[in-house]
Amino acid sequence: MGKTAVITGAASGIGRAVSLAFADRGAKLVMADVEADGLEAARQEAEARGAETVGVVTDVTQQASVEALADAAWARFGAVHIVHNNAGVLIRAPMLDAAEKDWEWILAVNLWGVIHGVRAFVPRMLEAGEEGHIVNTASEAGHFAGDGYGVYNTSKFAVVGLTESLARELRNTPLGVSMLCPGQVETGIFTNTNRPASFQRNGDDVPVERRATDNAMEPADVAAKVLAAVEAGELYVFSHVDEARSLIEKRHGRLMRGLGN
Ligand SMILES: NC(=O)c1ccc[n+]([C@@H]2O[C@H](COP(=O)([O-])OP(=O)(O)OC[C@H]3O[C@@H](n4cnc5c(N)ncnc54)[C@H](O)[C@@H]3O)[C@@H](O)[C@H]2O)c1
Repeated sequence: MGKTAVITGAASGIGRAVSLAFADRGAKLVMADVEADGLEAARQEAEARGAETVGVVTDVTQQASVEALADAAWARFGAVHIVHNNAGVLIRAPMLDAAEKDWEWILAVNLWGVIHGVRAFVPRMLEAGEEGHIVNTASEAGHFAGDGYGVYNTSKFAVVGLTESLARELRNTPLGVSMLCPGQVETGIFTNTNRPASFQRNGDDVPVERRATDNAMEPADVAAKVLAAVEAGELYVFSHVDEARSLIEKRHGRLMRGLGN
């Protein structure tokens, strides 16, 4: 492949698996996460697969931190071809039980993290004029508002709108755009405690309870779908295709009824 890929949330779960998949394809990797130890462990795994890698501790909630990530990527490899804005966090609680800090944290990582990634990388990639690709991690929760995830759903619907808009704005450029919309994947998102001090809600965090499921996918299988979508230039990447189809049909049925059809 010979490309350089930047992945946020690369210490764990989907971001780690996407990094390893790109490593197997011969990409150079710039791996970013707020969790330094996990990032270094994942970076070493990617390096063991023969990839050239650099790990950059990054807080995607901060534009300056993501700008520094971009600087580090260009300084090390001289080019960036693929950016996967993937870092994300979850609380499971009715939105009326969420504190303002919960809203701020979820939107700062899931939405502003993507905005910061787009702003830090896309203009420079366009200026370089090379073929490239932006992947944003949304969710099934960006297409269907399931119960108990109001704050998270809000962030992911916004990422869907942002990414569809970005795809339109970039359609006559050498940059492709994809959005990853997973169903449930076996990752650390249900237990992640990387909540920066500025987003703490006085030590009484909303508990993140695990939804029972027999339908969770392995991150490596999701990563394979991301790679295939980047290579094929597909906008939508769903992990659980049948589940997503049924949820989207349900929502569109409601919309159509709202339109009187
Ligand atoms: N796991 C699922 O079932 C699922 C389903 C749909 C969408 N997603 C999305 O997939 C993406 C990846 O999540 P995952 O499931 O692999 O979870 P994960 O917790 O295993 O990985 C997320 C990574 O993001 C990092 N992160 C958190 N805050 C950060 C910050 N401020 N700056 C930089 N990095 C930060 C974490 O340290 C962690 O390493 C997220 O956007 C998530 O919303 C996951």
